[in-house]
Amino acid sequence: MRKNIVAGNWKMNLDYNEGLSLFSEVLNMVKDEATGAQEVVVCSPFIHLHSLAQLAKGNGRVSIGAQNAHQAESGAYTGEVSAKQIKSVGATYVILGHSERRQYFGETNQLLAQKTDTALANGLKPIFCIGETLQEREAGQHFNIIKTQLEEGVYHLDADKFAQLVLAYEPVWAIGTGVTATSEQAQEIHAFIRQELAAKYGQQVADDTTILYGGSCNAKNAPELFAQPDIDGGLIGGASLKSRDFTDIVKAFN
Ligand code: PGA
Repeated sequence: MRKNIVAGNWKMNLDYNEGLSLFSEVLNMVKDEATGAQEVVVCSPFIHLHSLAQLAKGNGRVSIGAQNAHQAESGAYTGEVSAKQIKSVGATYVILGHSERRQYFGETNQLLAQKTDTALANGLKPIFCIGETLQEREAGQHFNIIKTQLEEGVYHLDADKFAQLVLAYEPVWAIGTGVTATSEQAQEIHAFIRQELAAKYGQQVADDTTILYGGSCNAKNAPELFAQPDIDGGLIGGASLKSRDFTDIVKAFN
């Protein structure tokens, strides 16, 4: 059966020392309060990855992830970081397809399909993000948009490879806005995604896939969101920058 996961996405926040302090606090709190999500992932800027992975060593519950990786194996791509490099410092996950990458860096479904292949080939588990904009929702396009993001981004994978993925439904209108999808809206899309996965990969794969919700998820709304049958955890932006808030979200599974 699928695992429940709470993943933090620090985005481009925290200098090196601030990141280490926050992570140490999170590690201690998560250890002291051993209930809640089965797995906790912290997706930090590249500069923190190695140190965080060292701090988390031997901790079976807390893993580290990056927020992006290049699609090429290596080469003349000044300023970029490869999946192999990320893996080599001890990270396990990589966020791919976050709406901020799609919007500000022009990442398309086709590019994300390549990034997914390269991440998997190097032993990283993608947290693959999908979700509609407000305009798309208002036009009644949300189901189609999500279906296309899946088809073009990940459906080229065979079932074994697909099983390495975590999906995250993040309605763009809910990210960083303080406007959360209602638990009914989120559950509706999560159930739709699982039904799509069942049609493509079979019921077993669909049942085993962890689907996170992201978008203004906080300690207050997490319990209701996570109580939905098809919501298996959260991808947390703003609230992952405070150890108490983040840990309370981790605990929201009880
Ligand atoms: P938010 O961000 O929790 O600050 O809305 C979520 C995300 O972008 O992953």
